[in-house]
Amino acid sequence: MNFSRKNPIQTKAWQKLTAHFEQIKNVHLQEMFANKIAREQELSVEFGDFFVDFSKNRWTSETIQLFTELANELHLRESISLYFKENNLNFTENRAVLHTALRSDEKEIVLNGNNIIPEIKSVNEKIETFTKAIISGSQKGHTGKAFTDVVNIGIGGSSLGPKVVCNALQHYKNHLNIHYVSNIDGDELEETLKKIIPETTLFIIVSKSFTTAETLQNANSIKNWFLKYAPETAVQKHFIAVSANVEKVVDFGVDASNIFPMWNWVGGRFSLWSAVGISVALSIGYENFKALLQGARKIDAHFKTKDYKENIPVLMAFTSIWYSNFFLTSQHAVIPYSYYLEDFVPYLKQGFMESNGKSVDRNGKAIDYKTGTVLFGGVGSNAQHAFMQLFHQGTNLISTEFIGFCNSLHGNSDHQDVLVANMFAQAKALAFGTYGKKTDNPYKEFKGNSPSTTILIKKLTPENLGSLLAIYEHKIFIEGLLLNINSFDQFGVELGKELSRNYIESLHESASKKSLLMQFYKNNQ
Ligand code: F6P
Repeated sequence: MNFSRKNPIQTKAWQKLTAHFEQIKNVHLQEMFANKIAREQELSVEFGDFFVDFSKNRWTSETIQLFTELANELHLRESISLYFKENNLNFTENRAVLHTALRSDEKEIVLNGNNIIPEIKSVNEKIETFTKAIISGSQKGHTGKAFTDVVNIGIGGSSLGPKVVCNALQHYKNHLNIHYVSNIDGDELEETLKKIIPETTLFIIVSKSFTTAETLQNANSIKNWFLKYAPETAVQKHFIAVSANVEKVVDFGVDASNIFPMWNWVGGRFSLWSAVGISVALSIGYENFKALLQGARKIDAHFKTKDYKENIPVLMAFTSIWYSNFFLTSQHAVIPYSYYLEDFVPYLKQGFMESNGKSVDRNGKAIDYKTGTVLFGGVGSNAQHAFMQLFHQGTNLISTEFIGFCNSLHGNSDHQDVLVANMFAQAKALAFGTYGKKTDNPYKEFKGNSPSTTILIKKLTPENLGSLLAIYEHKIFIEGLLLNINSFDQFGVELGKELSRNYIESLHESASKKSLLMQFYKNNQ
């Protein structure tokens, strides 16, 4: 059994969905609610600390049934089970996709004849020992002082994943200050260097390939800066690396014992569960890091076993295909109502847009339906005062996912109640607008009928965050499967990298580059 390679729009279920869409495309959400008692109950899912309300989507239980038929025609159940075992899901790079193994409690997951679980365990033990020693201060910098700061040098998945977790869980953090340097922008680097003292800072170079230009240049510049204040021998105490490319890391000057391995079966944007998350474990402690993994593991079990009509990631993926391929929307917003989730949207942008921005199917054929949508968003209620006017009265149809927490972390319920009330009100205003109400001022009319899903979580804990992240990972996977694309490669980022290399060479050669950059630009198009 292998993953299906069927064109989804050639299935019987797709034809049925098309006919069903014609029937309900103009039905207003207001009418859907009026005609169905207990719609919320029928179209919501409860799981652990999560309550997910799908009722404000422009669909019915029949839509879910038809998507289930589509999933069955495309052998989704078998694919889900394969996704947790040896597979060749990333077939264009000839790689397995097994990041779920990083949080698994199975005793054995075999890949190419080897059980990968003991290897994962031994890296986790190394992370545990190391992070405990740094946090407790028993492992010190080259002058004998304990570490106060940690700088994660990495880009894309080697930064966005750990950064979103670290910032989301800052309530649980210890005394270590964690910084992330990702961009090649030297100003970003300088601003970080201004905040740290070399003798008490630990640097983690995170790069699966250890060939990423931005990361290597940043790592070299930081090392040169560090060597202005410390002898060469101090590098061993202050620089560690997370990579699948041991040889290149050693060439850079990191001691082999300071390398935390990762594997080519872990994609960059799904890697925060591996040693890539070491900055997280340093910030919140290894026990909290374990709780994060446990939360993801719980969703893995839910995802593997639940019927589609109660399966959170699967239902979320159904909504996404429903809007992009039937309502023909091209934007999707995610709006978390939590200060702590400020970095959540940038993280999801990579997850969804790097994974599902594809136009060739799993048979190498050009696609004639819609694949990835543009994901954007921001934290509520700020978003309401910035860009949500367009959702309410613009001409584009935008689907939204709201994420909120019942309890604040500091126990301030006055503010939390208002925050969550705002989220509920937005979902309601978007769904119903002023539909059916007489207004004599067209500028004050709200068309409503804008779909949303609301994810309500009891509290932002490491475990619940792990679950939330895993829900979105699985949503990406299901979208890709149903759309018959490979969600796990990213060749689209290569051309720009290549072209920039030519520019860099010419710019380095051009003596007068600084004053004549604009002229250079015009001459080199
Ligand atoms: O350029 C895209 C990309 O390959 C991402 O997929 C990845 O997360 C990022 O670059 C960083 O890659 P690496 O960890 O190999 O430095």
